[in-house]
Amino acid sequence: MKDFRNTARRRWIWHPLGHGDRSLIDEEIFRKLGDKYRKSSAQIILRWHTQMEFITIPGSKNPDHIRDNGDIFDFTLTPEEMEEISKLDGTKRYYHADNAQEEKYAQMHLPFEK
Ligand SMILES: NC(=O)c1ccc[n+]([C@@H]2O[C@H](COP(=O)([O-])OP(=O)(O)OC[C@H]3O[C@@H](n4cnc5c(N)ncnc54)[C@H](OP(=O)(O)O)[C@@H]3O)[C@@H](O)[C@H]2O)c1
Repeated sequence: MKDFRNTARRRWIWHPLGHGDRSLIDEEIFRKLGDKYRKSSAQIILRWHTQMEFITIPGSKNPDHIRDNGDIFDFTLTPEEMEEISKLDGTKRYYHADNAQEEKYAQMHLPFEK
């Protein structure tokens, strides 16, 4: 994935947990690092996004998950671990929008805008 850390731009990750896709969350690397840091796989994924300096807003309806998802600031993945996660095959897309939808989003005016 392109590294945006040294630019003024921030990426906003719309589906940081891949909509809860088990094939993502159950990746071996997340389980291994979860064991090391005593965190869940989801927490490792969210920590990786955060250390990449992505804007990360996970969705959850589960109070335990919501609590866990905020509890990711007491450990730090090493540069080697960050790199290992970055090497995962990232070809699966979780966001699908066609040009017409993108145009609609671009024209959107939020109620607080003048
Ligand atoms: N403004 C926009 O246009 C826009 C666009 C895209 C997304 N969003 C918002 O961004 C947020 C994230 O999107 P998303 O919900 O599609 O994707 P997501 O955050 O990638 O995935 C949410 C899924 O992950 C599960 N999950 C959350 N925390 C977990 C944990 N600790 N352990 C295991 N599973 C966990 C949730 O299940 P549980 O409910 O069981 O925890 C849910 O099924 C949502 O609030 C969405 O509405 C906004």
